[in-house]
Amino acid sequence: MADHVEKVIYDGDPGHDDVMAIVMAAGDPHIDLLAVTTVAGNTTLENATRNALMLMDVMDLDIPVVPGCAKPLLRKLHTAPQVHGEGGLDGAGYWEPKRKPVNEHAADFLIRTLMESDGDINVVTAGPMTNLALAMIREPRICDKIKQILFMGGGRYGNITGAAEFNIWVDAEAAKVVFDSPCKKVMCGLDLTYQACLTEEVYKKIAGIDTKLGHFLYDILGFFSHAPVTKEEPGPAINDPCPVAYLIDPKVFTTNDYYVDVMTAPGITYGMTVLDYYRLNPWEEIPAPNVTVGEKLDFDRFWEIMLNAIKALG
Ligand code: BDR
Ligand code: CA
Repeated sequence: MADHVEKVIYDGDPGHDDVMAIVMAAGDPHIDLLAVTTVAGNTTLENATRNALMLMDVMDLDIPVVPGCAKPLLRKLHTAPQVHGEGGLDGAGYWEPKRKPVNEHAADFLIRTLMESDGDINVVTAGPMTNLALAMIREPRICDKIKQILFMGGGRYGNITGAAEFNIWVDAEAAKVVFDSPCKKVMCGLDLTYQACLTEEVYKKIAGIDTKLGHFLYDILGFFSHAPVTKEEPGPAINDPCPVAYLIDPKVFTTNDYYVDVMTAPGITYGMTVLDYYRLNPWEEIPAPNVTVGEKLDFDRFWEIMLNAIKALG
């Protein structure tokens, strides 16, 4: 028996690292994965939903997959085929999933499930925050029901522009709605997630897992290992599982609380998360810290959690 169990709705855009996050959530006994809601981001909504359902087939799990927004709140959609391929999850081939998506919009699903809950559900987002923002706009009372929001996004530098991280940049208006909400927020930005690299050594360990899921992950990560990396990284960052890992074991990374806001003005800083890192200025007008920010990752523990989850799914 796990010493604690966290209920989770996972909202993402699978996507290779989303798949790793969903596997971690589905396979670890500390997480009760209630549903996967999908959103356009890494790839189109249609692809992201199909990819999530394909993963459910591979894991042979009946976790509801609920499609949401096909485009950002205001802007046109930008996807990332240069990272994830044209289908959003290149590497293992595509098929028509056996399982079908839930016939309800993700924003409605979030509202209904959260309003019926005892306030014990964590919302993890690992794509653009469009679904969650739309749900908050339609039913602001969900903010009193969300236990906490843990998200992959932002950072003190960018990956899609010099200033902005992809998830925030795709829909900065949605991120602004979420940042402005009173919910407790845990941010896994690039500074943290770039420590969660897929090294050769880790990839070999995944290669050694002789199960249907192990083979599938080996194939998709083989494609993903050609994704663009920074000069400091020994392999591509597996960004999206970081917030899930924190729910499983809060010691997997260190945190500090900061004031963070999102730039929505057009121009080169669109989508930037501005973080008052040093907080040296004593002016009273500077808002109080509003986000718990992940900083130093325990790499070995992160991959231990991940490999255990993959093996547990058989
Ligand atoms: C984000 O972009 C996508 O490639 C990943 O899934 C992650 O959500 C990193 O910027
Ligand atoms: Ca993602």
